[in-house]
Amino acid sequence: MCGIVGIVGTGPVAERLVDALTRLEYRGYDSAGVATINEGKLDRRRAEGKLVNLRGVLAKEPLPGNIGIAHTRWATHGVPNETNAHPHFVDGVAVVHNGIIENFAEIKQELIAGGATFETQTDTEVVAQLLARYRREGLGRRQAMHEMLKRVTGAYALAVMFEDDPSTLMAARSGPPLAIGYGRGEVYLGSDAVALSPFTNEVTYLHDGDWAIVGKDGVFIFDLSGSPVSRPRQITQAAAYLVDKGNHRHFMEKEIYEQPEVISHALSHYVDFAERRARFDSGTIDFSKVTGLAMSACGTAFLAASIGKYWFERYARLPVEIDVASEFRYREMPLSPDQAALFISQSGETADTLASLRYCKEQGLKIGAVVNVTESTIAREADAIFPILAGPEIGVASTKAFTCQLAVLASLAIGAARARGTIDEATEKTLVRHLTEMPRIMSRVLNLIQPQMEALSRELSKCKDVLYIGRGTSYPLAMEGALKLKEISYIHAEGYAAGELKHGPIALIDENMPVIVIAPHDRFFEKTVSNMQEVAARGGRIIFITDEKGAAASTLPTVATIVLPEVDEIIAPMIFSLPIQLLAYHTAVFMGTDVDQPRNLAKSVTVE
Ligand code: F6R
Repeated sequence: MCGIVGIVGTGPVAERLVDALTRLEYRGYDSAGVATINEGKLDRRRAEGKLVNLRGVLAKEPLPGNIGIAHTRWATHGVPNETNAHPHFVDGVAVVHNGIIENFAEIKQELIAGGATFETQTDTEVVAQLLARYRREGLGRRQAMHEMLKRVTGAYALAVMFEDDPSTLMAARSGPPLAIGYGRGEVYLGSDAVALSPFTNEVTYLHDGDWAIVGKDGVFIFDLSGSPVSRPRQITQAAAYLVDKGNHRHFMEKEIYEQPEVISHALSHYVDFAERRARFDSGTIDFSKVTGLAMSACGTAFLAASIGKYWFERYARLPVEIDVASEFRYREMPLSPDQAALFISQSGETADTLASLRYCKEQGLKIGAVVNVTESTIAREADAIFPILAGPEIGVASTKAFTCQLAVLASLAIGAARARGTIDEATEKTLVRHLTEMPRIMSRVLNLIQPQMEALSRELSKCKDVLYIGRGTSYPLAMEGALKLKEISYIHAEGYAAGELKHGPIALIDENMPVIVIAPHDRFFEKTVSNMQEVAARGGRIIFITDEKGAAASTLPTVATIVLPEVDEIIAPMIFSLPIQLLAYHTAVFMGTDVDQPRNLAKSVTVE
């Protein structure tokens, strides 16, 4: 993930900015850069690769100046090279950015038609270009910033510096976090308080939709309508954390909130946002020729694979054989070399998954590894590696790795479908557009549902058992919801296909049994509502996770209805993951369990 730092200082800032960036290194990055205003002129140093390269450039060519912004870039749009590294400069405007500007292609076209020339392949450059255009048209700095924010959509954190104002930075947040720090005669900007911890422990976190003018004369924060808003200053403990939780209580919470950002990054390696095409290297696996897929994994990764199966079958018309790895490895399943096999694993070290991979390899199948740790054994033994790019996942209960696995599997299914000619170009573009919009929707949902999830978790924490039900891709998601709840809150929970309810589990329903129904208003909605009806008729307590259309369509009594935005079926599993993750998280916090290291569980299961 990208990292942002800014200083309005009392002395030279370049070295200090790079020092602060080192505290964001853990997030992963592939290039870095720093810019200052020196004697009334913007200047910058940038380098591909690690910060040591940037330090090398600075040692050769120091960068004076008492105000500056700096960035570590984790490439999304455009390859990781020096040209695409931030800060980006256009006519006296400098910008660093974290996230995705969703409508950059449209804005870029418009700006090019108006005579602009672009230097980089990044989405970020449209921000600098727009600001420069508004300034040329005569707007002041503050107005230009406000106009630019009205034009761009997506998930972003931005820091902006104007050459004609060497005492002020501007900032904006929609999604990825951004903090303002206060020092003696200085002010700072940072992606998180840890980046700012060498300078100050007094910070203000911008809220979603906020933008700010940050100068020695004061900090002024506005909402998107341009009205001033006030945000609290707080003292952080960030300096105390070596591996940081940012402003979160637990790694799990941090990882839940990181999802919009890490998913943008992951998607950028599998889809072309501008062309709206699936684009990835599948190595020696030729999806156009394979006759079927075998998929295997454990736990949450298996549930991601189970959702992926729906996509490969529906879009790419590929039959998928799937099983948990501890069964798969011993089933002696007949497989043929014209099939391919995908193994999904965050750690890439899970013993059963590895054994299943080796079984498929012996049968002559081409092997794909969908992994987070690309140096892992599973990755090394595969023919093609599909990294999920979630960044380090510290919380034992998987959250961001799950949704990144889903994002990657969805992209692979779309690419396979195109290669096989089972979807046309227009469908590919539509599906990719939905994927592109997902990070922004995730950010919105995370903000929207947080208070309701916290309140609901108090109810859930009193329960002994919880049932989760769903149909289609919401069925594996129901199982994931149950798994998340049981592993961190120790409450017994089961996930069922909603249609299976009447074949057994319905016997459990009474007025003490909460039933969490996952039902976006999709092809299965009416049928799921019938199953809900069966629960309601027996006095079961329904927690209904649906979308706006679903909420309007059902009149059944519920304990709570969680209303998410209406989204396409291809992204619904990722969006609907958020309430189930937050519900499990807050229930566990409420019960006082060890959220990040639940009893009896390990992050990497390297034994059978
Ligand atoms: C649950 C969880 C586990 C893992 C499983 C597989 O939250 O994290 O169920 O998904 O142990 O681990 P990996 O993905 O490392 O193979």
